[in-house]
Amino acid sequence: MRTIAVMTSGGDAPGMNPAIRAVVRAATAHGIEVYGIRQAFSGLLAGDFERMTNRDVSGIIGRGGTILQTARNAEFRTLQGQKRGLRRLNEHGIEGLVVIGGDGSLRGAHSLHELGFPVVGVPGSIDNDIYGTDMSIGVDTALNTIIDALDKLRDTASSHERCFLIEVMGRNCGYLATISGILGGAEFVMIPERPFTLQEVAEALENAYMRGKNHAIGVIAEGATPRIHEVAAFLEGHETGFEVRMTVLGHVVRGGDPSAFDRLLATRLGVHAVECLLGGETGVMVGLQGRDIGTVSLADATDKDKNVSTEYIQMADMLAR
Ligand code: F6P
Repeated sequence: MRTIAVMTSGGDAPGMNPAIRAVVRAATAHGIEVYGIRQAFSGLLAGDFERMTNRDVSGIIGRGGTILQTARNAEFRTLQGQKRGLRRLNEHGIEGLVVIGGDGSLRGAHSLHELGFPVVGVPGSIDNDIYGTDMSIGVDTALNTIIDALDKLRDTASSHERCFLIEVMGRNCGYLATISGILGGAEFVMIPERPFTLQEVAEALENAYMRGKNHAIGVIAEGATPRIHEVAAFLEGHETGFEVRMTVLGHVVRGGDPSAFDRLLATRLGVHAVECLLGGETGVMVGLQGRDIGTVSLADATDKDKNVSTEYIQMADMLAR
């Protein structure tokens, strides 16, 4: 293998830049040329390739976002799109590809593998919903951002004796909501994995008020039902003791400089991805398994679900007293 390419795809995640850097530098150390593909599968289809040297990735280890930019592409979900992508890779003499991204991006990577192209996936998504890795790139930084916001909101909540409902990202997975709820001392957490009635929320708040709390925090995952606006509307009509305010953190959680943990994880995964390509272990995703970096097939990584563990859910409930 003499030439490989790297792309970042799907929702950006803090740590994608150190992952790109690790891929470029590890490949260069092995005498391999690297091309960056801009804007993920859209750039692949458009032939937007750029030669990357060690100097091109200088100073990016601590920067949020992704210098290669990213995109979500509908055309690449079709076989026709995938074949066009393969043709572009061949035209540029690319012999292996590293795809850094979330669930949808790894599906794109898997489709190229099924067409016979050597691909390795790297899990990058703040949601932590990818099977085969304990942590994805960006999760730790996102958690730190949420906890910082929760701490600030608690200050104003206590001052006014209010309940703050805080929505965090997590379309199908309540990991961010559950862990930040535990670490931020939330009174309740609502996640897609577990149904929660409006009546239960009102009771949790009323109990907190009766126990003498002067603030209450509820963390709600974006994908939970009922949605944050419904919860707020319901609580307005029920006298729990607390006034209600809500804050949707939204894309703020995806930004920011990667934490030390994310820089290290991204670096280890990027280096390992290159080693897999060179060693002929392709059609796999590299991941953090315990303390080690291991691999899982892209088929498993994209087919199997990963939900927040019941242990964490129970912990969040038990400690919210
Ligand atoms: O998959 C990561 C994620 O941040 C989800 O939590 C969220 O639902 C989605 O991306 C938002 O996507 P977009 O940036 O396209 O609005």
